[in-house]
Amino acid sequence: MTRLVSIDGAIFRPEEAKVSVYDRGFLYGDSVFETIRTYGGKPFALEDHLARLERSAERIAISLPVPREELGREVTALIQAAREAPEGGGAAGAAARGVVESYVRVMLTRGSGPLGLDPALAGAPLRVILVEPLKPLPAALYRDGISVVTTRTQRAGDAAPGAKVSNYLESLLALRDARAAGAHEALILDPSGHVVEGTTSNVFLVERRPATHESPEDPGHLLITPPKEAGILVGITRGHVIDVAAELGLPSCCEPVTMSRLLSAEEVFITSSLREIVPVVRVDAHVVGAGVPGPKTRALHAAFRKKVGLGGAPLPWESP
Ligand SMILES: Cc1ncc(COP(=O)(O)O)c(C=O)c1O
Repeated sequence: MTRLVSIDGAIFRPEEAKVSVYDRGFLYGDSVFETIRTYGGKPFALEDHLARLERSAERIAISLPVPREELGREVTALIQAAREAPEGGGAAGAAARGVVESYVRVMLTRGSGPLGLDPALAGAPLRVILVEPLKPLPAALYRDGISVVTTRTQRAGDAAPGAKVSNYLESLLALRDARAAGAHEALILDPSGHVVEGTTSNVFLVERRPATHESPEDPGHLLITPPKEAGILVGITRGHVIDVAAELGLPSCCEPVTMSRLLSAEEVFITSSLREIVPVVRVDAHVVGAGVPGPKTRALHAAFRKKVGLGGAPLPWESP
């Protein structure tokens, strides 16, 4: 497997792939994108990602330059071309080294034009697809869980809430601070102090339900995640996690999450396409629950892996 790039449908090696310095994605962050991964060499939830890309583009008044189906075919063809590329030993060599899955980024910019902020100056939208071998997260992060820090921000994306716009500067700076503090992810708090999401992930809590007349002894658990209205990116993994929770009989609801709610949760985890489900065992200086990945997080992740076709494979925390 190798890295390949598709620009407006034409495939290039990375060193030959060029876009204009007048492209508005470069000049103004005037673009939207999607991050996708493959399972078994096939892009997972491709339809959902392309639908979200189109919605994000609509939110900032960029129209898809080709029908969604054609963009999907370009993504699939590029993944296939990267898998078959001779560099690095080809697909057989890659499989032998265990590198069989792809990390895919699909970008759509407003295109290029003369300098000036006015979007009317842009020519035709530009589409770029990047494919490279997926590097899975180290097993230790799944096995032991991660630390996160909380950061209060005003986010750049708030001009187009819910859209996956390319300007991640505030999140990038929050992530830099998190990494400097030895944490894996930063959880973004809105100006009123509510937990929104991670810099590139959604966040979930497992809470013990209050006792009711129907279940006075074991009230069971509840899965909580901030609602769309909190200003989150509605994650595709988030949706799958809510579905598998229902299949496992774990009720879920989308509700605002305050810091005190986050800190009193029995389990916390983050979700994203590339990382699936990662247990959080520390938030700032606070230890979450028992300080180890919890049973509900594990059960949800195992069910999620079945859903993506990896039912028989070792679980991420079981890998050496
Ligand atoms: C801000 C933000 N929230 C959530 C997510 C998770 O979304 P998904 O599960 O669709 O990858 C991402 C993914 O990149 C993100 O950037």
